[in-house]
Amino acid sequence: MIAADTSYTDNAALLPGDSPELTLLAASPKERVESIKLNSTAWKGPLDPDSYLAREDHLYRQPLTRDGLICWLLVDRREPEGQRTILSSCETYKKKAWLAHDGELSDTIAYGVGSVYCRPEFRGQGYAKRMLQELTIKMDEWQMEKAANRTLFSVLFSDIGKNFYAQFGWKPFPSSHFELPLISKDDYNQQIPGVSLPNTRDLAAADVQSYICSDTVLQKERDLLRTASQNSPSTKIAIAPSFDHYSWHWAREEFYAGKLCPGRTPPVIKGAGEDASGVYCAWNRNFGETPEENTLYILRWVYDDPTTAEETKATVNAMAAILRRAQLEAHEWNMSTIQFWNPTPLLEKAVALLDPSAKVVHREKTSIACLRWTGADHGLTKDVEWLLNEKYAWC
Ligand SMILES: CC(C)(COP(=O)(O)OP(=O)(O)OC[C@H]1O[C@@H](n2cnc3c(N)ncnc32)[C@H](O)[C@@H]1OP(=O)(O)O)[C@@H](O)C(=O)NCCC(=O)NCCS
Repeated sequence: MIAADTSYTDNAALLPGDSPELTLLAASPKERVESIKLNSTAWKGPLDPDSYLAREDHLYRQPLTRDGLICWLLVDRREPEGQRTILSSCETYKKKAWLAHDGELSDTIAYGVGSVYCRPEFRGQGYAKRMLQELTIKMDEWQMEKAANRTLFSVLFSDIGKNFYAQFGWKPFPSSHFELPLISKDDYNQQIPGVSLPNTRDLAAADVQSYICSDTVLQKERDLLRTASQNSPSTKIAIAPSFDHYSWHWAREEFYAGKLCPGRTPPVIKGAGEDASGVYCAWNRNFGETPEENTLYILRWVYDDPTTAEETKATVNAMAAILRRAQLEAHEWNMSTIQFWNPTPLLEKAVALLDPSAKVVHREKTSIACLRWTGADHGLTKDVEWLLNEKYAWC
């Protein structure tokens, strides 16, 4: 049990955000629970507080996060563990990543930062800022864990616009998406006039593993990164799109489905594909605070770039057919919309087949993909390009 914050109820007793007495440290297991209870008001959405805590524990146990999640607290260093007041908190996740420079690719570690929080009554005192400053110091000195891991970049997804995190080095990167409406089974069965779309195949989790995360597919992605970095003025980085990312997103959707759709079999269709053109995608259902926010997200697309006009047409048609399948799946799970991030020109063409008036949305406030790059201090290029900047990397 964390001590009550009686000494802080009068804001005059609060230490200023730049006080030398403030320190950033890793939460004890009990403190982690307390920090989740505190931030539940911001993020529990449609869950009750106990279910929200259970969700966080469930996600904590997933392969993606179980070895590398740290809950950080900003506290007064003079207060002993068990009695200290949480002034601000956040989490970091260790992520496998790729870095390609001058035609050489290396496996590396990156950090994801999330759940940046300060309780309402302590806001505006500079605590979140101080916490992030301290975090960047730890990252830059590679002190994140006992066995120091060399890390040259970290990512986060800001829901408070592009400026706040930029002051600590997390610069905004492309953050656009397409949003499409749902379609009913009847609409799905109708032909689109003048367009002949191929049949698609539903993907279960094991299929996603085979078609989207196999060693062969990942090797191709690595080769693309390596090639893109040859003679390029910027280093190329990506969060390695391993199967663990998808299982983390599915653990989340299955948890919500179990709570919000009792009696219904949890969702088993995890994506769709079209074999002839070799186009595949994985998705998850995101249950928002209100039903209007329920969104089926395409986590990632995998396809080979076509080389002829005929192949291009087949690839675009396959993408359009897969999008329609996603629109139907979203309908069957009471989602309000489907979304996918940072569309490529081929995906833009596919969307135009389904809805010529659809426009790419450039986000300004929520889910802004931000990257902090320190490679230039270690002999790499000043500029960095984030490849595979898709929803799978969000957490
Ligand atoms: C965002 C948050 C962590 C800031 O905590 P804080 O300790 O009050 O922050 P600080 O006092 O260090 O800094 C205040 C700055 O926060 C920024 N900020 C806070 N809320 C913001 C919002 N909704 N949109 C944009 N900026 C915001 C402002 O830029 C403000 O800057 P200013 O001092 O120049 O006006 C806190 O408001 C919070 O927990 N909000 C709810 C959860 C949340 O949205 N977290 C961020 C997820 S990406």
